[in-house]
Amino acid sequence: MTMDVRPATSSDINAICELLVGRLDEEDGPEARMILEADGPHDWWVGTVAGEIGSTMMVHPVSYRIGSVTVPGNQVEFVATHERFAGRGLVRRQFEAATDAMARRGELISMIVGIPYFYRRFGYEYAVSVPDVQVIRAGIELPTDETLGLADATLDDVSAVQQLQALAQESADVAASFPDDVRSWFVESPNYRTMIARRADIPVGMVRAYEHDGEVWVFEVVASQPEVLGSLLNAVRGGGDVGVLHRPASPAGVFIGSFGETSDNTEAYYGKVLDVAALLNALRPTFDQRLAEAGLDDLTHTWMLSTYVASYGAEIVNGAFGPITSGPGIQAPVSKGGSGVPPDLMATMIVGRDGITELNRWHGDVYLGRQAAIMDTLFPPQEVDILTWIVP
Ligand SMILES: CC(C)(COP(=O)(O)OP(=O)(O)OC[C@H]1O[C@@H](n2cnc3c(N)ncnc32)[C@H](O)[C@@H]1OP(=O)(O)O)[C@@H](O)C(=O)NCCC(=O)NCCS
Repeated sequence: MTMDVRPATSSDINAICELLVGRLDEEDGPEARMILEADGPHDWWVGTVAGEIGSTMMVHPVSYRIGSVTVPGNQVEFVATHERFAGRGLVRRQFEAATDAMARRGELISMIVGIPYFYRRFGYEYAVSVPDVQVIRAGIELPTDETLGLADATLDDVSAVQQLQALAQESADVAASFPDDVRSWFVESPNYRTMIARRADIPVGMVRAYEHDGEVWVFEVVASQPEVLGSLLNAVRGGGDVGVLHRPASPAGVFIGSFGETSDNTEAYYGKVLDVAALLNALRPTFDQRLAEAGLDDLTHTWMLSTYVASYGAEIVNGAFGPITSGPGIQAPVSKGGSGVPPDLMATMIVGRDGITELNRWHGDVYLGRQAAIMDTLFPPQEVDILTWIVP
């Protein structure tokens, strides 16, 4: 039977929603329909078998700020294949087509939350650990402020939500953010609530909340005072326990540990660098800034990184990175004064929390060589604030 992969059209909407309800969850149908029927930058794909829709996935734009540089990227959602057509390579073919489209749009980083191990098959790695969760048991009293106005966000609040999120991410080293039209889908979502707190009409905090099987998950927390967060949590918590995702680099990160119990989170976001050379080149201002902050503004050095399948080099002159050039993989980069990091650690090295020196401890194919201190400065441990559509 002929298989094909193509962009979705409006006449596919019913079939896509039916497929998602059958393969994922009842609630995914209305969520997908809302996006498919909305304007905006969604890149939906379908796989067909003899003309019948057998699989689907959606890509939407996300910006990633790394230090002082923001680069275009995306996240992938709604991946599913009908049981009857599973195991025939439909999702692999969808990823091939969607990845070509990502390259045409110039996107440099892609991230996903989802099926364990599966996306490693498509070049994704577990790049960023998900922060801890604060568990607030039912009945625990939280600080509140009765003067706050609390309301579910509407489309009129999109810019207020965006400003609150930007404020919360100010001190993160790496931050993912959504364009306004993607943020509008979140605000209109039938499954996720966006709740804003205002004091004298000025937005002072927000959360996004998701309820499933009586449990409430709260994320994208913005609050500069405990009573703002307490009031927002009371508004969304219902009668049961609440799990609140930490945001260590945000103002709420300072006091959230005093609410309830902290629970370790062992989940991680998948990430993939779509074009290593282009991303490294885009990050030159961030590298210059990191060298300057480390007192290396007079550094002159021939920098080289091999991923064993490709290599990247640049002249650093007086602390300023020259253009990054690409070449073939170098098997023994340390003997040539460079460093070796395998290709499937590029996302972890660039947007991950741990930094290259920590990766060197755990991965036998990371070699930093004589430029170890420079690599540590360029790829340090970082505060990372990744936002995603669904709670991980
Ligand atoms: C998981 C799922 C998307 C796979 O779709 P599919 O069309 O059968 O996948 P493909 O046939 O294209 O498989 C691609 C590759 O992944 C492998 N694979 C398939 N399912 C896998 C799984 N669950 N875990 C790991 N590898 C898997 C295949 O063997 C294949 O390997 P190869 O190309 O190297 O031979 C599909 O089974 C599904 O819809 N599952 C339920 C929906 C779901 O959980 N969606 C995610 C929500 S976040």
